[in-house]
Amino acid sequence: MSCSAVAAAFSAVVAQGLLWRSRRRSRRAFVARYLSVTKIQLKRLIITIDGPAGAGKTTVSRILADRLGYRYIDTGALYRGVALEAISSGLSHDDDMGLEKLCSKLKMKFMPGEKDLRLLSNDSDITDQIRTSEITMFASAVSARPVVRRFLLDLQRDMGREKGVVFEGRDMGSVVFPDADVKFYLDASCKVRALRRYKEIRSKTSQTLEEVEKDIKRRDENDSTRDLAPLKPAEDAIIIDSTDISAKGVVDRMLSYIENRH
Ligand code: DC
Repeated sequence: MSCSAVAAAFSAVVAQGLLWRSRRRSRRAFVARYLSVTKIQLKRLIITIDGPAGAGKTTVSRILADRLGYRYIDTGALYRGVALEAISSGLSHDDDMGLEKLCSKLKMKFMPGEKDLRLLSNDSDITDQIRTSEITMFASAVSARPVVRRFLLDLQRDMGREKGVVFEGRDMGSVVFPDADVKFYLDASCKVRALRRYKEIRSKTSQTLEEVEKDIKRRDENDSTRDLAPLKPAEDAIIIDSTDISAKGVVDRMLSYIENRH
């Protein structure tokens, strides 16, 4: 056997050995991860994910809830539900007496659907009606009314009674669940948030990217300057900037944070 053949055989053996060791290491890492995710599954934590529009909260919350076998609650949908009912009843966004009466008769709940979670309002499925730009802006306006926030505060806390939930919203960690086990605040640059939202809705709307960005800026302004429960990170929230990270990357960071602390 020539010298070079011996050298080649030797390096093949070394490479095999390294591969075997690295596979063993990645097998170990896989098992460790599996066990710690199972541990979190069993702990039934309350996890909150707040942040501005388009930061990727919905995608991330869904994946995280799925990985942990937790329920996922989209609290923005509840504000949208109130907005839809208010518009259908001909109320203006600041008609507090009208809104109070409306809320006192409103029964909203989530039900698992074939593909996704459905929102029922007084037993009617309104899931597909609450994503228009009119509802989006009206929801932001009614979310500043104390009467609406009070009504939804109780409803959201009721939904959290059965643990093991990922709550997505604006004030989940700061107001609704101040004692949540883990709080995240997801942010991203305005440009990236507008682009994500535009890609999400472009098949359903005639809005241009510039218009979507303008709406997002207006909504940021409304949501963060209102007196009651303004959009801001809870003091103990972990802030993640998702501008340059994929949804899966964000979830991985969240999971390793949760694993380290729970
Ligand atoms: O997340 P979204 O776009 O579906 O939310 C619609 C509006 O509801 C948003 O502009 C602000 C309001 N909202 C809120 O005030 N508090 C929450 N926890 C969730 C949403």
